[in-house]
Amino acid sequence: MAKRVVLAYSGGLDTSVAVRWMIETYGVEVIALAVDVGQAVDPAQSGDPWDAIKARALAAGASEAVVIDAREEFAENFVAPALAANALYEGRYPLVSALSRPVIVKHLVEGARRFGADAVAHGCTGKGNDQVRFEVGTRSLAPDLEVLAPVRGWGMTREESILYAYRNDIPIVATKEKVYSIDDNLWGRAIECGEMEDPWAVPPQGVWMLTRQTATEPRDVVIGFEQGKPTSVDGERLGMLGIITLLNELIGSYGWGRIDMVENRRVGIKSRETYECPASLALILAHKDLESICLERDLDREKARIEPRYAELIYDGLWFSPLKDAFDSFVKSSQRHVTGEVRLHLEPGSCVVTGRRSPDSLYDYGLATYDAADSFRHEDSAGFVRLWGLGLETWSARQGPGSRS
Ligand code: ARG
Repeated sequence: MAKRVVLAYSGGLDTSVAVRWMIETYGVEVIALAVDVGQAVDPAQSGDPWDAIKARALAAGASEAVVIDAREEFAENFVAPALAANALYEGRYPLVSALSRPVIVKHLVEGARRFGADAVAHGCTGKGNDQVRFEVGTRSLAPDLEVLAPVRGWGMTREESILYAYRNDIPIVATKEKVYSIDDNLWGRAIECGEMEDPWAVPPQGVWMLTRQTATEPRDVVIGFEQGKPTSVDGERLGMLGIITLLNELIGSYGWGRIDMVENRRVGIKSRETYECPASLALILAHKDLESICLERDLDREKARIEPRYAELIYDGLWFSPLKDAFDSFVKSSQRHVTGEVRLHLEPGSCVVTGRRSPDSLYDYGLATYDAADSFRHEDSAGFVRLWGLGLETWSARQGPGSRS
C-alpha cells in the first residue's frame, strides 16, 4: 500500500474531502497538487484565489499544497497540436476536459518524483471518462506508480461528503446544492447534469457563462496562422494563450460557440453534454478553412480521415501512446505550408468564414477563372474525360443499360 500520495486537487468538495479521507482510510500522507489550465476559480475574499485553494488543501490535512501554472504549456503543447489536427470528438466536441487531463497527469507524475511519492490520486467517479484519462495516462508515463481513486470507492452521496467536510472542519465553499458538474479551462467549458440529464430538456439559460450575447454590432476578425498555429489576431502578434483568451471573450460576446450533444463515453454510457467553446470552435473553423487552400488534395483528404481517430485517442485517454505520437508526426508534416489568414464574420449568434489567403496558396486564379485570364488548357479535358468514363462505357455496352437496346 502506498505511503505518500500526490492528489490532483481542484479545490472542490470531492478532492477536499478526499485529502482527509485518504489520510484516515489509507493512512497515507497527501500532497495536494493543483494545475492551472485556465479554469475559472472562485474569487478569494482577499488576495490570490489560488492561495485560498492551497489553504483549503492544507486545512483538509495535506502536508503540502502546490499550484502549477500550466496555462502556457497547455496551450502550446496540448491545445496547439489538437488544433492542427482539427480534433473534434464525434465531429463536434473540441475535447476541452480530455485535453487537460494529460497535462495534469504529467505534473502529477513529476510531483510524485519530486516528493518521493509512490502513488498519485484523482477525484473522479466511476462513471466518467476522466478516471480513464488519469489512470491510463499515469500508467503510460509511470507504470510503477499506484493510482488511487478514493471518490470511486467511498460510496458517499454528495450530502454525506458535505457532512464529512463539516465534521472534519474542511472549509468547503459548496454548501448549497450544486446541481451541475462543470469542468473548464482555456479551451472551453463543459456543463453536465441537473435537468439536462433529460436529453429533450432545453438547457437553462443560466448554465451559459462564456457565450452570453452582449455584442450587437457585426464585425470581422482576421486570424493569422503560421505552419498551422495561430499567431495573430487582426494583425497583432500574440501567443497561443493570448489568442485563445482574446477570442473566447470576443466570439463569446456574440453568443456563439455552444454545443448540445449526446456523446458516447469510453465506459459505455451515452451522456448529454453541453459545452461552450467560442475560441476553440472558431479556431478550428478558421484553421480547417485555411487548409482548404494550403493542402494538396490527397494530403487534405488523408488528414481528414485520421482526424476523427486522433480525437478518439485523446478522448479515450491515449494521449501518451505511440499511435498518437505517429499521428502527431504526420499532422506536423502536413502543416508546413498552412500559413496565411482567415477572415471570420461575427454577428449575434453567428461566426462564419468570409475569406482566406495564403502566400503558399494552391488556389490558382488562372486555372480557376472563367474570365479572359483563363490559363487552363480546355482541350486537355476532352481526352481526360473520355478515359475517365471508358470503363463505364464498356460496361454499359456489354452488361449495362446500353446492352439492352
Ligand atoms: N464529457 C466531457 C469529456 O469527457 C466532459 C467531462 C467534463 N467533466 C465534468 N466534470 N463536467 O471530456
